[in-house]
Amino acid sequence: MNKFTSFADVPDYKVLLNKALEIKANPFGYQHLGKNKTVGLIFFNPSLRTRLSSIKAAYNLGAQAWVLNAGADSWTLEMNDGAVMNGSTQEHIKEAIAVMSQYCDVLGVRTFPGLKDRDEDYNEVVFNKILKYATVPVISLESATLHPLQSFADLITVAETKQTERVKVVLTWAPHVRALPQCVPNSFADWFSEIDWVDFVITHPEGYELAERFTKGARIEYEQKKALEGADFVYAKNWSSYRDYGQVITQDPSWMVDTQHMALTNNGKFIHCLPVRRNVEVADAVLDSPNSLVVQEAGNRVFSMQTVLHEMLQ
Ligand code: CP
Repeated sequence: MNKFTSFADVPDYKVLLNKALEIKANPFGYQHLGKNKTVGLIFFNPSLRTRLSSIKAAYNLGAQAWVLNAGADSWTLEMNDGAVMNGSTQEHIKEAIAVMSQYCDVLGVRTFPGLKDRDEDYNEVVFNKILKYATVPVISLESATLHPLQSFADLITVAETKQTERVKVVLTWAPHVRALPQCVPNSFADWFSEIDWVDFVITHPEGYELAERFTKGARIEYEQKKALEGADFVYAKNWSSYRDYGQVITQDPSWMVDTQHMALTNNGKFIHCLPVRRNVEVADAVLDSPNSLVVQEAGNRVFSMQTVLHEMLQ
């Protein structure tokens, strides 16, 4: 694997999932792979889980890791080709990524969407420049439209927890105080619509339809309570509108996942990528219940990253 940016980069998800479960059971079993190797991690926006789990994943494989907060720790980067750099930017992404490739064997990069220009975000203009200028394998630590390491960790969590061969997994929109990207729900749909043992349902208020290229024909149910009936797993997440790009259409508090919502499920487990706005997106009683998997899920971020690194370093 030379890049990991979406489900399409995974040759066989079953093989990758089995490798992740094997690595989780024996996290230090491949320490030889990382010997004398360095993982570079570049962040264009804040992170708790992605940053720390990626460092831990590198260490588990015997590799070293460095982290750069672009802009804050480095020169201000210019993204536009052909720019006359007589303003505030000091270094072009072209040199920056090529140089950082000299200092690592695998590069992880987190970018973010502007949520203003849908074409720019959905064409992954910034991430594609990174792929173009990097001379080592690249892992998406979240891009303008997708968060594949999160979705892979979500898949590990569901796979290791499920009690039946087939499971119903519901992705539900939840309210939030500000406009958030569609990366996490896009990515969750990108992965879970492809899992052959999952009955996948998406529920959201009208106007929050995700891009069809990621939902890939998944069932969409506009009545949240109907969608949740019999669910084995409930994934809550806020996102802004794709249609009215970046806009908040409603903040309807009745969509907050609470115990009444969970009572409709098949004793369903609750998952969320974190960070979560308590009592806005999800009620305390759900997050603090034994059915909440959010911390286990965040723990699995180590093993999604470690498995992808394993594939790249071997
Ligand atoms: N879920 C996730 O990616 O968390 P961070 O933004 O803290 O990395």
